[in-house]
Amino acid sequence: MQKKTIRKAVLPVAGLGTRFLPATKALPKEMLTIVDRPIIQYVVDEARKAGIEHIVFVTGRNKHVIEDHFDIAYELEDTLRERGKQEALDLLEAIRPAAGGTSFTRQQEPLGLGHAIWCARDLIGNEPFAILLPDMLMKSDPGCLSQMVEVYEKTGGNVISVEAVPEDQTHNYGIVEIDGDPSAHTVKITGMVEKPKPGTAPSNLFINGRYILQPRIFELLEKQGTGAGGEIQLTDAMLALMGEQTFTGLRFEGETYDCGSKSGFLAANIAYALEDEELAGQIRPVLNDLLKV
Ligand code: UTP
Repeated sequence: MQKKTIRKAVLPVAGLGTRFLPATKALPKEMLTIVDRPIIQYVVDEARKAGIEHIVFVTGRNKHVIEDHFDIAYELEDTLRERGKQEALDLLEAIRPAAGGTSFTRQQEPLGLGHAIWCARDLIGNEPFAILLPDMLMKSDPGCLSQMVEVYEKTGGNVISVEAVPEDQTHNYGIVEIDGDPSAHTVKITGMVEKPKPGTAPSNLFINGRYILQPRIFELLEKQGTGAGGEIQLTDAMLALMGEQTFTGLRFEGETYDCGSKSGFLAANIAYALEDEELAGQIRPVLNDLLKV
């Protein structure tokens, strides 16, 4: 059967980012920088490399700076042109999505991730689409979504990226139940639970923030009541969809940084800095000194 191509992606950015207050009082969490680019830029780049042509940002109050970041900055770019700063201009052009390739819709209240995704229903329409959680940074080549698209082209249905997490941390994540060998490259997902109580997780594989879903999810989200944490959970709607359609888990190959947490954010900064030869030469001695203490 011919599978519909994954052309569109939803990036939910309407959360409050309370774990980073006061930094996120006026600045969206997604605009915090990893070395020299905002977190969300890495995620948009990952989506574009996977063939995504249109990105739907689900935003909230105080998030307009994200829209500006992906637009042309006329004053800045004119000044750079006057000063002959071609390298900087090229950089800005390379990170910009195509004209008309972005949409912005508002989640008026932060009622949960499931509700945020549902807010994108009209902009996505009746086609399978990707979701990328912009605070999860996935470092790999090919990118995580590219790896998932490759699997989707074989399996169709719904595809979710999963990754092993230490047993004592499963209560922080959405955890999948699987049928078959948990170390296989792809696994058949038979269930999932959001933030299971310690000792009750059905596996050690957590959903790390990348999804390819069929549009039927929107109808299920429409009816979805509140779940864990009093929020409308995407996990609960996916569980309902699992009764009708297949879910394949891809064991992601690469590094994941949870930039919604301070430790993950700092680790990502160090990892990306160490990848840059010049920067690595400067910070390695500093890190070595600090670690001696
Ligand atoms: P998180 O719960 O990790 O993000 O949601 P948060 O609420 O921004 O951060 P904290 O916990 O208060 O520090 C995961 C993703 O889902 C989006 C967030 O923006 C984030 O990208 N989200 C969450 C929404 O868009 N709307 C919501 O109602 C909830």
